[in-house]
Amino acid sequence: MKISERLKEICEFISPEDRIIDIGCDHALLDIYLCEQYKDLKVIASDIHEGALNNAIKNVKNHNLIDRISLRLGDGLTIVNADEFDTILISGMGFYTIKDILSNEPKMVNVKKIVVQSNTDVVKLRKFIIKLGFKIVNEKLVKDNDIIYTIIEFGLGKEKYTYDEIYFGPIILKNKDELFYEYYSKKLLKYENLLLQIPKYEIKSKLHHKKLIKIIRRALTSTENKVDEKKEK
Ligand SMILES: C[S@@+](CC[C@H](N)C(=O)[O-])C[C@H]1O[C@@H](n2cnc3c(N)ncnc32)[C@H](O)[C@@H]1O
Repeated sequence: MKISERLKEICEFISPEDRIIDIGCDHALLDIYLCEQYKDLKVIASDIHEGALNNAIKNVKNHNLIDRISLRLGDGLTIVNADEFDTILISGMGFYTIKDILSNEPKMVNVKKIVVQSNTDVVKLRKFIIKLGFKIVNEKLVKDNDIIYTIIEFGLGKEKYTYDEIYFGPIILKNKDELFYEYYSKKLLKYENLLLQIPKYEIKSKLHHKKLIKIIRRALTSTENKVDEKKEK
C-alpha cells in the first residue's frame, strides 16, 4: 500500500511490541500500513469526526484488517481504557490539540512511549511532553511535498536539556543533516526579515527575535554542536 513519505517515516518510529493508540487516525492509512508491516500488531485507531472514522472503517475493511484495528469514535483518550495501550501516536495536528489530548492524566498512567508529529509549535511541544515525565529518545526532520516536518519519539524518563536542545531538538542538533540546514536557513531569513519590521518600542519581541537569530546562526555555522552552559530546569 502507498502512503505519504511523512506517514512512512512516522511508522519507522514504531516497534512490533508497541501497544498503540493512533489518535486522529483520519483515513487510518498509517494503521493499515503498520499492520501490513508487522503481522502480529494490533492497533486502536480513533477519530473525533464521524466522517473520518467512516473512511477509516471502509479502508480497514478493504484491507481485511477489521480484527486487528479497533476503530473508535471520540475525543482523544476518552474512548480508551488506560490498560489497553502503552504507546500514543499523534500526527498531523496542532500543538494545542495535542496538549489537550495528552492532558488526560488518568489515561496516561501506562504510557511509556509517545510518537508525535505536530504541525505547529514544536518547541512548546517538547517542553510540554518533557514536563509530563518523558525524555526525547529519537527524532527526525522529514520532507514531504516540500514541507519539512519534525517527528519526535518520547520515552519515559528525566533528562535535562539546554535551551538550544529544546529549540532544535537534541538529536536533530547533534545530527545536523541536510534538511536541518535547509529548514533553519529559511527560518533564519524569515526571522531576520521579521526583525526589521518589528517597531522599536516592541522591545520584548525584538529581543526574542534577536535571540532566535543568534542561536540559529550559531547552529548553522558551527561545525560541532555548541551547547549552552546553562541547563534548563
Ligand atoms: C489532519 S488529520 C491527520 C490524520 C493523520 N493522523 C495524519 O497524520 O495524516 C487530523 C485528524 O485528527 C482528528 N482529530 C482532531 N482532534 C481530535 C481529537 N481531539 N481526538 C481525536 N481525533 C481528533 C481530525 O478529525 C482529523 O481526522
